[in-house]
Amino acid sequence: MENKNYRRTLVTCALPYANGPVHIGHLAGVYVPADIYVRYLRMKGEEVLYVCGSDEHGVPITIKARQKGVSPQDIVDEYHAIIDRSFKDLGINFDVYGRTSSKIHEETSSAFFKKLYDEGKFITKESEQYYDPEAKTFLADRYIVGTCPKCGAEGAYGDQCEKCGSTLSPEELINPKSKLSGAEPIKKKTTHWYLPLQDYENWLREWILEGHKEWRPNVYGQVKSWLDGGLQPRAVTRDLEWGVPVPVEGAEGKVLYVWFDAPIGYISNTREILPDSWEKWWKSPDTKLVHFIGKDNIVFHCIVFPSMLKAYGDGYILPENVPANEFLNLEGDKISTSRGWAVWAHEYVRDFPGKEDTLRYVLTANAPETKDNDFSWKDFQARNNSELVAIFGNFVNRAVVLTHKYFDGKVPACGELEPIDRETLEALPAIKEAIEKNIESYKFREALKEAMNLARIGNKYISDTEPWKVAKTDLARTATILNISLQICASLAIAFEPFTPFAAERLRRMIGSPLDWNLLGRADILPVGAALKEAELLFTKVEDAEIDAQIERLAKIKAEREAAEKAAADAEAAKRIEPQKEECSFEDFEKMDIRTATVLEAERVPKTDKLLKLTIDTGIDQRTIVSGIAEYYSPEEMVGKQICILANLAPRKIRGIESKGMILMARQGDGRMRFVTPQETLANGATIG
Ligand code: MF3
Ligand code: ZN
Repeated sequence: MENKNYRRTLVTCALPYANGPVHIGHLAGVYVPADIYVRYLRMKGEEVLYVCGSDEHGVPITIKARQKGVSPQDIVDEYHAIIDRSFKDLGINFDVYGRTSSKIHEETSSAFFKKLYDEGKFITKESEQYYDPEAKTFLADRYIVGTCPKCGAEGAYGDQCEKCGSTLSPEELINPKSKLSGAEPIKKKTTHWYLPLQDYENWLREWILEGHKEWRPNVYGQVKSWLDGGLQPRAVTRDLEWGVPVPVEGAEGKVLYVWFDAPIGYISNTREILPDSWEKWWKSPDTKLVHFIGKDNIVFHCIVFPSMLKAYGDGYILPENVPANEFLNLEGDKISTSRGWAVWAHEYVRDFPGKEDTLRYVLTANAPETKDNDFSWKDFQARNNSELVAIFGNFVNRAVVLTHKYFDGKVPACGELEPIDRETLEALPAIKEAIEKNIESYKFREALKEAMNLARIGNKYISDTEPWKVAKTDLARTATILNISLQICASLAIAFEPFTPFAAERLRRMIGSPLDWNLLGRADILPVGAALKEAELLFTKVEDAEIDAQIERLAKIKAEREAAEKAAADAEAAKRIEPQKEECSFEDFEKMDIRTATVLEAERVPKTDKLLKLTIDTGIDQRTIVSGIAEYYSPEEMVGKQICILANLAPRKIRGIESKGMILMARQGDGRMRFVTPQETLANGATIG
């Protein structure tokens, strides 16, 4: 457990890449849990700084810019604004939401590099890297495409084949081509700076493996396996135009690697709002630093960035914890920005105005804290309607409406307590403690469950005591019941502040209750006689139609993707050519009686998908042929058509029908076929050869 007596907490959230909007996976993984944590600490009166911003460098941003024919700055300007807005709309209010393309970040990260460089903390290495001789530039892995050596797919990237998912290096690609010019890349020597991570291995072992056994198993386990695998020097510069220029002579055309500059962004963004006092947040042992991230960021936040800070020295603190989440799936499939399989934050806010809390609630209730988890719209609806509306909202509504009805909207006095009152009130402090314990150990799902238990207790209390019935005979008793109910409402307004802040605030305004964590669970939060506002619904239902629209949208995306994949696969297959068959003699060929015929009648063979039964006029006779062409021709299409047949094929019974002969079909690699027909209509029975 954490044992230090910290005096303030610095909370950072992974800086989202500004090359696309944020989606529910990001929210569930990083931003909603961080926000719960920060709101909780603030409510307890602690000093907190909450830092985030856009990560605006890296190769994917340059690729997107090129695709759209705009500059990388245009791309990050667009998405920075969208992301910033959607965080605010969801109640995620950072103290600073900066940008790594800012001046202060360039200064900060540049100076950071320079100090390590001057102190000889880097090593340099020369290596051969792919270079585009036409575009005259080195090529990042993503800029090289070719045939996948593992599955043969075209268009695999230099770092990964999206078809089979294999991790690749550009050297492995068959037929590598530059994405920029299409030219064949050549190998060229280049020099880069590396941080010798292996030098920090023992220190990391001691700090994390010995000192932080309480970290989440997924985080601890990943760190351990990296350390056990042995650390290697890691390049901290790249040959690229977009990024923070490497601030040393002879480094023209080189920038800091995005994973070197981005975490320094936490520091730059702190400096941006606190130019004079930022150091107390980063260099004081009294500050507790917590990084909220997703699992794909673990190595950078637990190994690379700490090693950078350690190399820098000068009193920089290290994280006390790095609560990384696993991934959230969507309706059973991996969320994927490139495939459009996501629920975007800014679209959610547009489609569900006033339901920001519901998303926060559902993402927390299903948080992928220990394993990957799934988001489904049905579950979203169920949790909203049967938990937020039916339990929390319903309880509050009954308490407030009844107080208006019997006591003119004023908190009534609490009389003598009955056993049920006592038991109910006695259960509350334990819930406060459980929420605290869970939030402080980053178990937000559990914490939310406890908060919801509080609502359940309230709802059960009011159902069991039935004040609307008691009111007919005993108003003093009704007063006691409603006083207790309203006190529980006040506790709920505190307990839910981290999870559903909009509803919590509405509730506080409605009943006039204070926001002070220490009051949670007490029986005297609201003074007797205090006036309530009119009852207003805390939550409203999610209707079937709203959910259906979302499910339909996703189904459409999936269908489009599957159709595109099938079309691509078919196009590949269509090009597949059968090898030539073994030689045959003229006599062999002469044995075959091939001639023209016309289809007179056609029908499907019952209970089959592929077979048509055709009656044809061969010029010699009328006969029946069963042919496997039903996938490609309807019976109506066939009637009246002139075709070619192998007339003397030995008769065969197919599905109980005697088939005499075979229709000649041209068939391509993907199975598609068309019948063969003379170039002009001839008499039936004309011989072919
Ligand atoms: N942009 C990265 C991602 O989305 C996270 C960067 S976190 C930082 O995976 F520490 F580098 F800023
Ligand atoms: Zn592949």
